[in-house]
Amino acid sequence: MSAGHHASPVPDPPEPVSAPAESAPALRRRTFIAATGVAAGGVVAGPSLLDAEQAAAAAVDSMQPAGGGTSSRVSLTVNGRRVTVTVDNRTSLLDLVREHLALPGTKKGCDAGACGACTVLVDGRRVNGCLTLAVRLDGAEVTTIEGLADGDDLHSLQEAFIEQDAFQCGFCTPGQIMSGVGCIREGHTGSPGEIREWMSGNICRCGCYVKIVRAVQQAAKVR
Ligand code: FES
Ligand code: FES
Repeated sequence: MSAGHHASPVPDPPEPVSAPAESAPALRRRTFIAATGVAAGGVVAGPSLLDAEQAAAAAVDSMQPAGGGTSSRVSLTVNGRRVTVTVDNRTSLLDLVREHLALPGTKKGCDAGACGACTVLVDGRRVNGCLTLAVRLDGAEVTTIEGLADGDDLHSLQEAFIEQDAFQCGFCTPGQIMSGVGCIREGHTGSPGEIREWMSGNICRCGCYVKIVRAVQQAAKVR
C-alpha cells in the first residue's frame, strides 16, 4: 500500500521528530528514516519507500565480509606490476587506479556505467571500471591506458588515433582506446557499422565517432 492511499484532503502537519539524545549515537540513518516515517503517519514516507530503504540497506550489508569489516586487502597485477592494497569494500576499480595507484589516465565521466570513459581491461576483457568492485579482483590482471604502450612504442591503436586525429578534447580517448583494443581482440571490426555497434558504450561528447571508427579499422588491419 502506498503513501497515497493515506492521503486526506488537508493532512495535519507531522509532529516534529527528534531522536532521544541518549540513543543518538546508536541511531543509524535508516533507523531514523523509519522512525520519522512512522511518526508522521506515512505522510513523509509510505511503506513502499521504507521497504526500498530497508532493501537498499540490506544490499549494502550483504556486501560486507562475514567478519563484518569494511575494508579488504586485494592483490592484483596492474600494467604488469603486482600491487597489494587495502581498500574500502565499496571502492570501484576506477577509484582504485586513480586514487590508490596514481594512474589518472582512466577517466571518470558519469561514474554510473553510461559513458565508457573508465574502460580498462581485466584479464583481457574490457570492463567499466566504475561498475567493478576492486575487492573482486584478487589475482586479476588489469591494463589501463598507461600500460598499453611498450616503453616509447605506442600501441598501434594509439598511433591510429593520432594519425586519424580521432579526438578533440581527449577526455573520452583513454576509454575509447581501451575499448577499441577489446573490440579488435574480440574480432568485431568487420565493418564500420560493426565497430560502431561494439563501441557504442563509449560516448564522445565532441562527436569524433567517424574518426574513432577509422582509427579502430586502421589498427585492426595491422593487428
Ligand atoms: S565513468 Fe564509468 S561508464 Fe562513465
Ligand atoms: S574527444 Fe572530447 S569527449 Fe571525445
